[in-house]
Amino acid sequence: KKTASKKMKGKKKRVRMFELSSSNAKREQNNVSEWMSESRHLIGNKDLLADFENQIKKALEGESIVFAIEGHAGLGKSRIVRELEKNLEKNKCRVYKGNCLSYGSSLSYHPWIEILNSIFGITSHDAMESRKKKIASMLLRMNKSMKDWLPLIGEIMSVKFEMNDLVRNLDNSLKMQKFYDIVLELLVFISRESFLSIVIEDYHWSDNSSSELLNYICRNTKKERIMFLIPYRPISDKAGIKEIEASVKHKLKELSEEETGELIENLLDVENIDKEMKNLIMKKSQGNPFYVEELVKSFIEQNYIAKEKGGWSLNRKAEEIALPNSVEEVILSRIDRLDLKEREILQSASVLGREFDMNLLSSLCSDKKLLVSSMNVLKQLDLIKTDEENEKKFFFKHILTCETAYNTLSFAKKRETHEKAGRLLEKKEKDRALNLGMLSYHFHKAHNREKALRYSLEAGEKSKVVYANDEAIEFFSRAIENCNESADLMIEKAARCHEERASVYSFIGRGEDAIKDTQESLNLAVESKDKSLLAFCLSEACIVYELSSKFDKMKESAEKALEIYIELSDKFGIAKAYNYIGMYYGIAGEPKREMEILLKAAEILKGAREEYEKTKKKSVSKGEEVSLLAVILNNLGYVQRLLGDNESALKNYEESLKARKLIEDKTGIAQVLNNIGMIYGRGGDIPRAMPYCEESIKIYDEIGNKKGLGSSLINYGYFNGEIGNHQKELECYEKSLQIQKQINDKYVMSFTLGNIGNYHLKMNNPKKALECQLESLALKKEINDRTGMAATYSNIARCYEAMGDNEKRIENLKEELKIYEEAGEEKKAAELKEKIK
Ligand SMILES: Nc1ncnc2c1ncn2[C@@H]1O[C@H](COP(=O)(O)OP(=O)(O)OP(=O)(O)O)[C@@H](O)[C@H]1O
Ligand SMILES: [Mg+2]
Repeated sequence: KKTASKKMKGKKKRVRMFELSSSNAKREQNNVSEWMSESRHLIGNKDLLADFENQIKKALEGESIVFAIEGHAGLGKSRIVRELEKNLEKNKCRVYKGNCLSYGSSLSYHPWIEILNSIFGITSHDAMESRKKKIASMLLRMNKSMKDWLPLIGEIMSVKFEMNDLVRNLDNSLKMQKFYDIVLELLVFISRESFLSIVIEDYHWSDNSSSELLNYICRNTKKERIMFLIPYRPISDKAGIKEIEASVKHKLKELSEEETGELIENLLDVENIDKEMKNLIMKKSQGNPFYVEELVKSFIEQNYIAKEKGGWSLNRKAEEIALPNSVEEVILSRIDRLDLKEREILQSASVLGREFDMNLLSSLCSDKKLLVSSMNVLKQLDLIKTDEENEKKFFFKHILTCETAYNTLSFAKKRETHEKAGRLLEKKEKDRALNLGMLSYHFHKAHNREKALRYSLEAGEKSKVVYANDEAIEFFSRAIENCNESADLMIEKAARCHEERASVYSFIGRGEDAIKDTQESLNLAVESKDKSLLAFCLSEACIVYELSSKFDKMKESAEKALEIYIELSDKFGIAKAYNYIGMYYGIAGEPKREMEILLKAAEILKGAREEYEKTKKKSVSKGEEVSLLAVILNNLGYVQRLLGDNESALKNYEESLKARKLIEDKTGIAQVLNNIGMIYGRGGDIPRAMPYCEESIKIYDEIGNKKGLGSSLINYGYFNGEIGNHQKELECYEKSLQIQKQINDKYVMSFTLGNIGNYHLKMNNPKKALECQLESLALKKEINDRTGMAATYSNIARCYEAMGDNEKRIENLKEELKIYEEAGEEKKAAELKEKIK
C-alpha cells in the first residue's frame, strides 16, 4: 500500500515508500534429498582407478607409493579419494586421514595432529589424562625409550606430559628433527603390522610444517608398505609449500559430454534425460561435477524441472532460464532462496569454518529449537552434512559453499560473529592450548585488537616451541598488525612482538628481515623507557647480529646491554653480555682479550652449579645460569686450546661437561666430549681421544641429533684412518653420508663425498675416487657453493693425475682457476696458473 514519501540520507530526491499489506503464501520448498545428493557411483576416471590397483600391489610388496591427485576445485578429488579408500580397506589397509584447512595455514601440523590422534585412538571426548594414556601406551609399545620423549610429542599435540630436562634443553631445530623421526618410526612400525595409508586431504592448504614433515617422511620411507594419498588443487608458487615428490601423479580433467550426461542421469535417477535440459547444464558446467550437482539442485529448488512419470523434465523454455555464470553464483542463488532463519544459521556456521561443532554453533544462535529444525532443512538441501562418526560435528558439503555463505555476511556481522565465536572458545579452558590459533584468528577477524594481540603472541610462541617457524612468523606478524591498528599505545608489547619475530627470522636464516625487526624492537624499547625491556632486546639483538655475521653491531649491542645490566645488578645479564663481547674479540683475532673477558664472565657465574643443586624444585632461572656458565666454559676451553694452553682448556671443558650433565643438556654434553676428543686426537693421542668420540656418537644417536652425529662420525672416521684402521674409516664416512641424505643436508653431503673420494685416492683407487668427487661436484653446483666447487675441481684434477690423464687434469684445474678469477682471488689464481703451466 502506497504511503507518504520520505527524505533519506544520501538521496537527493524523496524516496517512495510502501507498506506491506500481506505476504504471499509460503513458497513451497522442494526437498532436494528426494533425489540422490551425489551420484551413486564414480563416473569416468577409469585410468586412475586402474593405476591405483597397480600401485596397491606395489605398495603391498613393500614399495612405498606417493600417489598424488591434482585438480581444480570441484573436479572430484575428494570423491575419488573416498573411492580409493574403499579399495584400500578391501585390501585390509589401515587408513589415517588428516585435513588441511583453508583458513588454517597457520595452524601448525594440523593434518598430522589429526592423523596422530586417530593413530592413538584419541577422540574429542577424551580428557587430558586419557589422552596421555593413549599416547604413552602406543609409543611405548613401539619403543621403550620413547618414555623420555613423551613431553616432546605432548608439546605438539597440546597434551601436557611432565617436562624433563632432556626435552627442555634441546634446541628447537633438534626437537623438530626428533619429532620427524618419531612420526617416521611410528608409521614404519604400523606398516610392519599392517598395510598403511596416510591421506593428506587438500594438501594445497597445508601449513609449511606439515608439508616439510610429509616430505621428510616420504623421502625416508622408500621400502615400506605405505601408500600416501595426496589430493590437492594446483599449487601456486606463492603458496610457499613444497610440491610433493610423488611417485605417481594424476591430473584430473573435466568430465566429457557423455560423462556429464551420465552424472545428471545418476543424480536424478532416470535413464533418459530431457535433451534440452542436458544441453543447458552441459554448456554451463563445462564438465565440472560439482557445478553440475549444484545446477541440478538449483533447478529442482526453483521448480525449473519437475518429476513426471518416471523422469524429470524442464517445465519451462530453456531460454527463459537465467543461468548463473559461475559455480559461486549458483551457490549464492541457492543461499538467497533460503528462509531467513536458515540462512542466518548457515552464515553463522560459515564463520566457524568448513567443519564446525554443533555445540559451538548452538551457542552462537539465540533460538535453540529453531536450530535443530533449520539444520535438518540445510541437510535436506545438501548444503551441509553430518560427520558419520560424531553426530555433533557438521561440515559444509563443499568448501565453496562455506566460502560463499561467509561472503554474504556484512563486515559488521562478520566481526560480531567472530567476536562471539572467540569468546565462546575462550570459555573452553580445557582445550585452550589447542585453540590458540583459532582464538587468534577469530579475535583478529573481530578486530578485537587487545585479544587478537594476546592470542597471536601466545600462538606464535607455541608455534616457535614446536619449531613451526613459518606459522610462528605469521602469528607474530598478526600480533604486530594488531598492535599497529590498536587505538591504545602498546609500545612494550610491540617491542616484544618485533623481537620475537626477529628471533624466528634469524633462526631460519632470513637475516635482513631479522635485523629490520631487531632495529624496530630496539627503537620501541627505547621509546618505552623500560630499562629491563631494553636490555633484554639488546641482548636478543646480539643473537640476530651474530647469526648474520654483523659482529660490530653485536659488540655494540652487548656493550649497551652490559651497561644497563650493571645498573640493574643482573648477574645473568652481565655474564651474557660479556660472553658476546668476548666472542667479538675472538672473531676479531684477539684471543687473549677474549679469554680475559670470558674469565670475568665465568667468575660472575661461579657457584651457579652448586646453587642450582641446592634449589629444591630445580629452579628454571638457576638452570639457565648453569647453562650459560657451561657455554662460557666451553668457549673458554676453545680459546685456550687456540692459545696452546691445552691443560687449562681441558680443565674448562671438564667443568663445562659437569655443568651440562647436571642440567642434562645432551647436545651440549656431546659437543664438549667431541671437543675433548679433538684435543687428544690432534695432539696425537688417538687411543685417548677415541672413547670421547664414541661417547659423543652414542649421545647424538640417542637424542636423534643427526647433524651432530654426522659430524662426529667424520671425526671418528678420521681418527680410525690415523691409526691405520681403514675399513672402519670408510664405514664411518659412509654412515655419515647416509645420515646426511636422510636429512637432505646437501652442503655436508657434498663435503662428505669429497672426504670419501680422498679416502679412495689414498687407497690407490682413483676411479672410485673420481666417481665420488663428481657426485660431490654435482651437489655443490646444485647449491651453488663456489668455493666448494673450486676445491672439488682440484680434487678431481688429482684423480686424473693418478690415472695419468694430464689433459683432463689441466681441464679441471682451469675450471678451478675460473672460479678464483671470478671471485677476484688473485693470489690463489696466480699460484694455480703456475701449476697449470
Ligand atoms: N567422477 C565423478 N563422478 C561422480 N560424482 C563426482 C565425480 N567427481 C566429482 N563428483 C561430485 O562432485 C562434487 C565435488 O567433488 P569433490 O568434492 O570431490 O571435489 P574436489 O576436487 O575435492 O574439490 P575441492 O578442490 O574443492 O576440494 C561431489 O559432490 C562429488 O560427489
Ligand atoms: Mg576436496
